[in-house]
Amino acid sequence: MTPLAGRIALVTGAAHGIGRACALELARQGADVGLVDLDPGVEQTARAVEKLGRRSAWATGDVGDPEQVHAAVDRIRGVLSDADCLVNNAGIVDHIAPLLKMQQSGWERELAVNLTGPFNMIRAVVESMAAKGWGRIVNMSSGAARSGLYNQAGYSATKAGLLGLTRNVTLEFARKGITCNAVLPGMIGTEKVKAMPPAILEQAVSMTPARRLGTPEEVAQMVAFLCSDAAGFINGAEIDIDGGLRLSHTVLGSQRELRSR
Ligand SMILES: NC(=O)c1ccc[n+]([C@@H]2O[C@H](COP(=O)([O-])OP(=O)(O)OC[C@H]3O[C@@H](n4cnc5c(N)ncnc54)[C@H](O)[C@@H]3O)[C@@H](O)[C@H]2O)c1
Repeated sequence: MTPLAGRIALVTGAAHGIGRACALELARQGADVGLVDLDPGVEQTARAVEKLGRRSAWATGDVGDPEQVHAAVDRIRGVLSDADCLVNNAGIVDHIAPLLKMQQSGWERELAVNLTGPFNMIRAVVESMAAKGWGRIVNMSSGAARSGLYNQAGYSATKAGLLGLTRNVTLEFARKGITCNAVLPGMIGTEKVKAMPPAILEQAVSMTPARRLGTPEEVAQMVAFLCSDAAGFINGAEIDIDGGLRLSHTVLGSQRELRSR
């Protein structure tokens, strides 16, 4: 089944992790895929897309910098044409500290990548989507947008801000045939996450009702669905992909749950 045949998708942060899985799933479902990443290793993802029989183009660039975004989008447009779908996946957890110990520069960097990045990318592609009367934008938020995360104020705030941006893009562009949705992953077993200290991973698994990490492919499946025609009336939505983690405060009434923490 190739529901995305004939579509051109753009994925940011596609060198690794969830972004790479999204690029490959979009290709499996028929799309040609443009890739943007700070890491030139993104070329490996482009080669993997081509192995799946789809066209690909890639550019290195910092999504937080509007000039680099325009250069990257232009380069990809020159090879593949205008994007029909945009997956704003690039994101960082760069600054882990209590609020009063945070560096201003760390806060600003997370804002630039996690929130200004999607803003820049959307502004670079949304006009051509509107002109075609069809577009799909998926923003990679996080469960942290709702719950907050200890010592990660910048990350939580930017991921919550991204939900606000998602709603506004919906309000402004839904009438042009464009959808803009957010996905909120819980703990996903990317290479980076799996390299975290075992005690933290065990805690994350024990807090997750599904009692496991999610996979990048599980997130990618939802992203690909949101990019399809079938998802045309889903707009401004916030979709949790977290094995139930958001419900994990619900331990009242279960001694077994309390003991397992
Ligand atoms: N892994 C998880 O458990 C998890 C949970 C919730 C949300 N998320 C979100 O999913 C997204 C992907 O996470 P991941 O775990 O795959 O991360 P990752 O670190 O494995 O990959 C992120 C990719 O983004 C790229 N990148 C970083 N800054 C960039 C910039 N300024 N411009 C362009 N590219 C840049 C990196 O080079 C890398 O290839 C992020 O937005 C993250 O916040 C991840």
